[in-house]
Amino acid sequence: MCGIVGYIGTKKACPILLAGLSRLEYRGYDSAGVSTIEKDELSLMKDKGRVKNLSNLDGIDKLEGTIGIAHTRWATHGKPSKENSHPHQDNSKTFSVVHNGIIENYNELRNFLLDNGYTFYSQTDTEVIPNLIHYHYTKDTQNDDLKFLRAVKNACLEFKGSFAIEVISKLYPDNMIVVRQDSPLVIGTCEDEKYLSSDIPAILSYTRDFYLLNDLEFVVLTNTTAKFYDKNLNEIEKQTQNIEWNACSAEKDGFDDFMLKEIYEQPTAIRETIGSKISLNTKCEFDELGFTKDYLSNLNKIYIVACGTAMHAGLSGKNAIEKLCRIPVEVDIASEFRYRDPIIDEKTLCIFISQSGETADTIAALKLSKEKKAKTLAISNVIGSSITREADYSIYTHAGPEIAVASTKAYTSQVMLINILAIYFAEVLETCTTSYLNELKKDILELPKKIEETLKCNESIKNFAKQIYQEKDVFFLGRGIDETVAREASLKLKEISYIHSDSYAAGELKHGPIALIENDITVISILTDANLIKKTVSNIQEVITRGAKTLIVTNKEIDNSMFNFVINIPDTNCFISPILSIIPLQLLAYYISKEKGLDVDKPRNLAKSVTVE
Ligand code: M6R
Repeated sequence: MCGIVGYIGTKKACPILLAGLSRLEYRGYDSAGVSTIEKDELSLMKDKGRVKNLSNLDGIDKLEGTIGIAHTRWATHGKPSKENSHPHQDNSKTFSVVHNGIIENYNELRNFLLDNGYTFYSQTDTEVIPNLIHYHYTKDTQNDDLKFLRAVKNACLEFKGSFAIEVISKLYPDNMIVVRQDSPLVIGTCEDEKYLSSDIPAILSYTRDFYLLNDLEFVVLTNTTAKFYDKNLNEIEKQTQNIEWNACSAEKDGFDDFMLKEIYEQPTAIRETIGSKISLNTKCEFDELGFTKDYLSNLNKIYIVACGTAMHAGLSGKNAIEKLCRIPVEVDIASEFRYRDPIIDEKTLCIFISQSGETADTIAALKLSKEKKAKTLAISNVIGSSITREADYSIYTHAGPEIAVASTKAYTSQVMLINILAIYFAEVLETCTTSYLNELKKDILELPKKIEETLKCNESIKNFAKQIYQEKDVFFLGRGIDETVAREASLKLKEISYIHSDSYAAGELKHGPIALIENDITVISILTDANLIKKTVSNIQEVITRGAKTLIVTNKEIDNSMFNFVINIPDTNCFISPILSIIPLQLLAYYISKEKGLDVDKPRNLAKSVTVE
């Protein structure tokens, strides 16, 4: 939830750290801080609020050190304040630490340290880290090269919970030690510089060569070297990975906001996600999977587990897999799944969807499924992310870096990939005719062009946003696949416009929610399934009768006269229609947020990557 960056090299660290923090601000933005090594002393500057407050602090431009760590915070323990901001130091100011994650047993450790004479100045869980490192450092009687590392390791082995930690010390002006467990941290490497970050895009402009860390791998960095150790401090080998994304894709490229840019990147994201997997008259290619007919036909169930928008993509996967493959699919929210003792065995396939690949609940659900002997398959947008390293199999969306907190291109790419997966399963299982699947493949291949077509609704949506941006409640309706889009559209609206909104299966309205419909309320409906349109239109009629004003997103010829506003989108196969029908509704959320003068990319209380439970 927080963002951490680090630098060790030949240049002044502070400007590089501040630039990295600005790129990571989507992960948390209630306070920020930096610590560098200045002539064998640790500097420490931090403040409440955005990174720009930190950049304006007196004296920050005087920092000369070439090694430093920095942090942008999303508060978990202790309110946003200067005292609670990172970096944190031990009482003797020997160690500076930044931390992303939660130390669950911090109370116990804090009491232990209090009993040993330490004092605490913040309400954070993090402050135990530098003090515990100091405790282990001073207790260690050996004075060898590994003393600093041993102190960090001994402290970390006492932590319960999740952490990505960077540590510097005034006693070791050429070193930085980093480690992670269930929280993201990557190391970018160049000849005489090392860049550290919670995610790859923040440091892509410096390097494309990255070390990806597994849990409890300890790293000792100098500007020219990176030495890796396991938790017993045995040295281990690690290769760099080359990341294909380019730095440009992590910049705004002339758009006002990342969200708008990412909405407009959807034709490319879908094209890249389809890649070479789909072509007419040849079978889908998923070399990395290799599932047999025997394995798939013996499955008793598939679970799709995810959070938020990724879960909504999972719902469209259920629709496709059940209809094309006739395997029962259950879709679950990861935070519920992990605590409800799900019925899983070796005949269950568990699919986990996560843009970031770092969502704590999704990772925990995956670990649980593995314990129960299911095969696990990760769908992620980030190569080498935690979820992909835990899963038995991984496949990737190729949406490129998604920076805006509100997910757009990641969602449509997830819907795309899970539909391709469903086709692959159907081909292995031989549950559909080739001609039927060919029709669907043809529609898939036409999607990028149709997305471009759909994006032309931009101006009409902008106008509609002007009409409704002051509303207090908005309702979204749909049936079948359109109901899954209603859920996603409703989430998008509430997270960036702060308007209360809800989504309903259109047929369910009369069982209660219709009591909320009153004069002039906005009801937005999605109509793309020819078999269900008449039924949904009847439900819309019911809200019109009660005074609602209506916006319709449809790809079918319908009588427009009864609705206030109709957005026509290109027709396509029902399975993949969410990829088109969500676009006007992503734009609607965006323009309403703009009308209200809100920060679209960094909505209040939210973070891009939810690495805490
Ligand atoms: O990185 P993930 O896909 O695992 O993230 C899951 C959710 O936190 C995420 O989709 C969230 O709901 C978005 N902010 C929605 O726009």
